[in-house]
Amino acid sequence: MSYAIIGFGAVGQALARAFARKNIEVTVASRRPAETLAPQARAIGPAVAPATLKEAVKADVIILAIPFWQHQEFTKTLPSWQGKIVIDVTNAFGVSVEDLDGLPSSAVIARALPGARLVKAFNHLPAGVLAEDPATKGGRRVIFLSSDDEDATATVAALVEQLGYAPVSLGKIAEGGQLVQARNRSWAPLIFQDLFKKEQ
Ligand SMILES: NC(=O)c1ccc[n+]([C@@H]2O[C@H](COP(=O)([O-])OP(=O)(O)OC[C@H]3O[C@@H](n4cnc5c(N)ncnc54)[C@H](OP(=O)(O)O)[C@@H]3O)[C@@H](O)[C@H]2O)c1
Repeated sequence: MSYAIIGFGAVGQALARAFARKNIEVTVASRRPAETLAPQARAIGPAVAPATLKEAVKADVIILAIPFWQHQEFTKTLPSWQGKIVIDVTNAFGVSVEDLDGLPSSAVIARALPGARLVKAFNHLPAGVLAEDPATKGGRRVIFLSSDDEDATATVAALVEQLGYAPVSLGKIAEGGQLVQARNRSWAPLIFQDLFKKEQ
């Protein structure tokens, strides 16, 4: 399984650290040329490889860590999204319900990437917290997953485990997944809840 993080800002770099910690190879990309990302990628660790956007989107699993509205630009990077697993880390805080057509923001992104198998994850914690080792306080930091695709959820849950977090599935995006969707000036109830699963 190959992985790419799109967006190498606060969250992209925090997640790259999680991959580096477990020595799982990951490609990172933004709109900038790959070589401009290289110093920061090198500083995080050898598992983190900068690439062009075009190269990065070839990965089996794409982690989308860009500003919410940039998904409209991002969708143009591949002619077809059929079957691609996309982990949506974006938050639409500040975006009106009207601009989201009354949908959860992840459903808006899924609509823009037809055929993609979208799983919402990692969006509920601040970048600084995501950058920390998830194995602390006698347990593992919880990452919530929501998706309309059960098989994609299982694949992402396995990745979340490999990275050292405890995955907790909330169900479908428009159901349990609403608990991690931001819109208007409001954060859903599970956003910022930094929970730990106690080891048995
Ligand atoms: N910051 C947090 O604590 C936090 C926590 C959870 C979730 N989030 C969500 O995660 C997303 C990223 O937040 P952030 O704080 O990491 O933002 P950020 O620091 O501003 O980084 C955004 C990154 O996205 C890249 N980018 C922008 N448009 C792009 C495009 N069309 N294609 C490819 N790359 C693009 C930017 O690089 P270039 O300009 O070089 O393209 C930059 O590397 C947002 O949706 C945010 O709501 C943030």
